Amino acid sequence: MDKFVIEGGRQLQGSIQVNGAKNAALPMMAAALLLEQGDRLILRNVPNLVDIRTMGILLGKLGVRVTRSKDVVTLLVTDDKPVIAPYEIVKKMRASICVLGPLVGRRRAAKVSQPGGCVIGVRPVDLHIRGLADLGADISMKRGYLEADGKNLKGRTVYLGGAYGPSVTGTQNVLMAAVLAEGTSLIECAACEPEVQALAEMLNEMGAKIEGIGSPRLIIHGVKQLHGADVSVIPDRIEAATFMAAAAVTEVHVRIEKCRPDHMIAPLESFRSAGIHTEQGEDWIEVQSEGDFKPVDITTLPYPGFPTDFQAQFMAVMSVGKGISVITEKIYPDRFMHVPELSRMGANIRKEGTCAIIAGVEQLVGAEVMASDLRASAGLVVAGMAAEGFTEIHRVYHIDRGYENLEQRLCGLGARVSRVVEKKENALIREAM
Ligand code: EPU
Repeated sequence: MDKFVIEGGRQLQGSIQVNGAKNAALPMMAAALLLEQGDRLILRNVPNLVDIRTMGILLGKLGVRVTRSKDVVTLLVTDDKPVIAPYEIVKKMRASICVLGPLVGRRRAAKVSQPGGCVIGVRPVDLHIRGLADLGADISMKRGYLEADGKNLKGRTVYLGGAYGPSVTGTQNVLMAAVLAEGTSLIECAACEPEVQALAEMLNEMGAKIEGIGSPRLIIHGVKQLHGADVSVIPDRIEAATFMAAAAVTEVHVRIEKCRPDHMIAPLESFRSAGIHTEQGEDWIEVQSEGDFKPVDITTLPYPGFPTDFQAQFMAVMSVGKGISVITEKIYPDRFMHVPELSRMGANIRKEGTCAIIAGVEQLVGAEVMASDLRASAGLVVAGMAAEGFTEIHRVYHIDRGYENLEQRLCGLGARVSRVVEKKENALIREAM
């Protein structure tokens, strides 16, 4: 297991490019299952990440040959019969659930291992099931697998609001099933995240008829068949925001390129409220920070609200703000695994239910910390860059799931982040202790 060693307090300078969004690319890859045998889907700007490779392996089991050349991934349907997404793969990546909708939509059957919970919360899939059932699929749970029969799929009205708002992958699943269902479907309370919009736009390129893209009401006129397409994955708004956070805490002038500021309204507004100077163009953001910022209260919400996937990184910024800020988590009430780790670095944070109250400190201090999940780890990287001395972040495989070559790219800005391959025995000793 690798670890990062970060020497904090380095001033950054220069420009950094944002990669394609993992959370957009994954469902777009799964959409290849909607195609006819022999059809091809070409995706550009696909990040080279563990999760993308896992989706490639899963699709391979489902009759889609996935190949990569640089950032271009080609998906060719070689066999349109397989419908089983096995436990061995789904347990590695929850986003595997994205194959459920297209399998039901095109192959009219699916047997997908039910994903378990994860460190950020329970993460049920009831909305996915309810939505597909409302379209006429017959779904049941058998020995840990969701088994669906889609013979009677038909366009209908589906309501996708849940206790914590709409579901991103739930909307994507129902959308992918609806595009090939006879008649017109209406998804009410659809998730509006840019990743949902990107999928819907790609489906239209493939011959689907979807209206209302970007709104909570999607209207889908079912078509008989889709065809291949050649599309580019949108820039990763969370990666871009993470770079902004790293820039904010290191007293710098950094230009973030190949991003979509229009997808980042809430994070940009929060930086402005903190008094961090930003400028933006169509596809770039510049951050000029003197490392001196005001506290800001934020609440994570469905898009266009503040993204939960940027909560940990923003908390790292607020940890060194001048005053008290309150961060309320409304998407995943338990997503606070980074709090004890930030506290080990000297942050002053008190957790109260679904809120974290952060009293900014003058200086964080480097320490050994543990990455628990992708975004918590990104928060620790930001904190490590702000801290005095050296920070060691263990279990960075979490970071590798969502950020490609993060250490090299941050080093390009003048940061000192190195990857150390830990010997297995040492890692085991630490776990036992
Ligand atoms: N929920 C339900 N029932 C469902 C589905 C979701 O109650 O059937 C709840 C969840 O427990 C949560 C809320 O609804 O409280 C929102 O969950 P959602 O379904 O929208 O999450 P997701 O689709 O499983 C995607 C991203 C996550 C991101 C969330 C929220 C992908 C592959 N994953 O997950 O990304 O946090 O939306 O924006 O798109 C990450 O990248 O680190 C990550 C976790």
